Amino acid sequence: MVQYKEYGFEGKVAIITGAGSGIGEATAIELAKGGAKVVLFGRTVGKLEKVKAECLKYSNDVLALACDVSDITSVETSVAEVIKAYGRIDILVNNAGIESRLEPGETFFGTLFDKLDEETYMKFFKVHDYGHYIMNLAVIPHMQKNHFGRIVNTTSVTGIHGNYSTPAYTASKAGAICQTKAFAMKYGRDNITVNAIAPGMVDTPMKIDATPREFEIVANKTPLGRVAESIDMARVILFFAQENLFVTGQCLTCDGGSDLA
Ligand SMILES: NC(=O)c1ccc[n+]([C@@H]2O[C@H](COP(=O)([O-])OP(=O)(O)OC[C@H]3O[C@@H](n4cnc5c(N)ncnc54)[C@H](OP(=O)(O)O)[C@@H]3O)[C@@H](O)[C@H]2O)c1
Repeated sequence: MVQYKEYGFEGKVAIITGAGSGIGEATAIELAKGGAKVVLFGRTVGKLEKVKAECLKYSNDVLALACDVSDITSVETSVAEVIKAYGRIDILVNNAGIESRLEPGETFFGTLFDKLDEETYMKFFKVHDYGHYIMNLAVIPHMQKNHFGRIVNTTSVTGIHGNYSTPAYTASKAGAICQTKAFAMKYGRDNITVNAIAPGMVDTPMKIDATPREFEIVANKTPLGRVAESIDMARVILFFAQENLFVTGQCLTCDGGSDLA
């Protein structure tokens, strides 16, 4: 049975970047449950194929495409494949993201803070900012044709309060929040909304280096009393992807209230 019926996902074509795991995976599955034609973008085909198999339980139309969102040729080729397959794009979830891996004993905000070389630093901007930019530019002309589009960007609370990660990660996420507002202003008249979610800590493969103690600390300082799961983020992304939405250019903090503490 189709879920989220009131959100109007049935028959809509939705691209989710970083769909091979974590928040992107959960979002793709929920959109498939809503009856959307789901397109999975990511760099590792094996991961995408597993998510595709799960999505196929709910939707007959699922595409898995190898795409590096920081590479313009890859983005343009993959978006062209979506158009060839489905002829339209209604929803774009810019969710792909990267994090530094830590050596034992190292912390983002401690020892790693002042060690980033230029290439490492710029890599974050290529995925989190330029990646959103080129995905939007490739997809928006197709949304304009139908005078409809829903774009949702996964940013981070670190892009708001600048903590928990490296300066490159936090600065690139702050940039993604501002870029969300810029695209919202430019394309509102095309009935294209552009919003962002800013997750706090979420239990996904990205957090593989986090210790049980770190999870416990976050859970303890979170008014809702636990660390988020991917599905918690997916539900907010779906809210911003719904058909009837009079909200644009906003970034919603999704951290169980922990920034109140
Ligand atoms: N987990 C958290 O605590 C947390 C908190 C705040 C914000 N976020 C944000 O949430 C988003 C989703 O992360 P997650 O937590 O779900 O982590 P995740 O499980 O590691 O998912 C990130 C996905 O992005 C893909 N990806 C990375 N670089 C890519 C590229 N250049 N092109 C295409 N795909 C790429 C990865 O797959 P491949 O490597 O196979 O491409 C991976 O499947 C990210 O933007 C992250 O910054 C996460």
